[in-house]
Amino acid sequence: MIIAVDGPVAAGKGTLARRLAAALNFAYLDTGSIYRAVAAKMLAAGDDPENHDAAIAAAVALTPADLERGDLRREAVGQAASRVAANQAVREALLAFQHRFAAEPPAGPEGPRDGAVLDGRDIGTVVCPDADMKFFLTASMEARAQRRHKELLERGEKSIYARVLQDLRERDARDSGRATAPLKAAADALRLDTSEMDADQAFAAAMAEIEKRLKLPGPAT
Ligand code: DC
Repeated sequence: MIIAVDGPVAAGKGTLARRLAAALNFAYLDTGSIYRAVAAKMLAAGDDPENHDAAIAAAVALTPADLERGDLRREAVGQAASRVAANQAVREALLAFQHRFAAEPPAGPEGPRDGAVLDGRDIGTVVCPDADMKFFLTASMEARAQRRHKELLERGEKSIYARVLQDLRERDARDSGRATAPLKAAADALRLDTSEMDADQAFAAAMAEIEKRLKLPGPAT
């Protein structure tokens, strides 16, 4: 079983996807970390994230160890990742990794897994269009900016709310406006607006939908 969780920055995708994976004993892949890892490697090498050839070289050379880099969650890396992610050749180079993860979810500490949860921007539309369950998370710009601001402060990073809001606007515009695999809900995705929900409520709402879906009778023969 494959569960896709898509949505814009700070809509609660990561928290929800991680909790669903833990509850169902599925493997979890944060696909944003793949784009972040490519961007982080380029920034460390002094490359411009919009340098086409350098971006492809970094994407092709990506290893699972790169996904463990300590600098992936930095705001500068997120912005650079959004620029790298607009490069179609980079996206194509990173597809195989994501397909493999969905088709053969890596085993966890308790043994093999029966499924995978992937979160990102294009999981339901491009990476796993046949996912068994697709969620598209949204939340108001203000709710998302407040969340991200709080998260940064809790991590001990400097954060100015107005700056966070501006960065979110820029990232939304770039992720939604790009020609290749733009951020958008799949036609068969379930939309969840998390503006007024905390993490527990979003998890309960998503689990209720999954249980409903699993209990559906098969097609009549
Ligand atoms: O989810 P995130 O903030 O970690 O993602 C970082 C950037 O990577 C985001 O701005 C857009 C890009 N991204 C993407 O284009 N497709 C995905 N499936 C995941 C992330």
